[in-house]
Amino acid sequence: MSILNYLLAIESSCDDTSVAIIDFNYKIVHQVTSSQVEHNRFGGVLPELASRLHIKNIMYLTELLIRESKINLNDIKAIAVSINPGLIGSLIVGLSFAKSFAWSLGIPLITVNHMMGHVFANYIEHRITPPFLALVVSGGHTELVFFNDENTFVTVGKTLDDSAGETFDKSAKLLNLGYPGGPVIDKYAKDGNPEFVKFPRALKQKDDYNFSYSGLKTAIKLYCHDKDSAFLEAHKSDLAASIQMAIIEPLISKTVRYAKVNNINKILLAGGVAANSLLKKLLQEKAASINAELYYPSLSLCTDNAAMIAAAAIPKYIAGQFSPLSVNAFSEKGIRFI
Ligand code: KG4
Ligand code: ZN
Repeated sequence: MSILNYLLAIESSCDDTSVAIIDFNYKIVHQVTSSQVEHNRFGGVLPELASRLHIKNIMYLTELLIRESKINLNDIKAIAVSINPGLIGSLIVGLSFAKSFAWSLGIPLITVNHMMGHVFANYIEHRITPPFLALVVSGGHTELVFFNDENTFVTVGKTLDDSAGETFDKSAKLLNLGYPGGPVIDKYAKDGNPEFVKFPRALKQKDDYNFSYSGLKTAIKLYCHDKDSAFLEAHKSDLAASIQMAIIEPLISKTVRYAKVNNINKILLAGGVAANSLLKKLLQEKAASINAELYYPSLSLCTDNAAMIAAAAIPKYIAGQFSPLSVNAFSEKGIRFI
């Protein structure tokens, strides 16, 4: 594909408004993201506030993107947008904007499942060819997905209740460490003892590939409720290390076991939790022990961003999988990773 062909993508599924232009070699030409720090003081994302901030930012960010990238609008071949899973109000802002933009330029609209975006973030920095196994771990999802090719995949394991990312977030709240919990637990865990408390590992004995985090969440809650805040503060590193290990151990063991049993030699880590430093290190070591290669995105591409949505749209563009302008924010439910 000629270098003058670009894809413009929009991501607004949660609390980041992000727009990006990439070329068809998965190279980011430019990206602008506005992270909604306004939610931090509430200890979580307020959906109504998120939608309003997307409305406020999306037009300005897109104008800035086009101006700074110096790309001619005639060279943009399609508009990609994430639809589902996500906050409905936030998704509607991005989708409505993307539809109008595609319609006004007379180019196709490509709707992208947000979780697919996380998987294809890996294509931006690595040359990968399927088949591969993807461990998708974000604030709302914990899934093991096998890709036969870029457009054909099957979910082989998933959480039966809560997600790994949510467990990081809720634990950090109990330890009074703020929101989002993953980065701060990751940081304190570096100086802590993962054996300080032996929290339960769910479904360890089961030979399937599902995960469960509700029991662990309850165990952490009961443990913290028993302690005063001075104790939690004094032992925050040890607790962070113990919690982190309890969350990531099942992710690592089940992913590597599936890859080994099915002779898969490429594993992709994806989603916000893919930023976790110990998860990357231990998964890489275990993958190497079965001669599998681990790929993960750099930090800035782990969290929500529009470039990953553009990357996931490329195989759809090549396959001619365009969406009608009548598409709605629930239309991709059928391929949702749950
Ligand atoms: O993919 P993402 O940005 O948003 C969703 O699609 O949900 O993931 C957000 C999740 C949050 O739960 C956050 O705590 C977690 O990713 N996270 C981390 C780290 N950085 C972000 N979890 C563990 N370690 C990290 N370093
Ligand atoms: Zn995400």
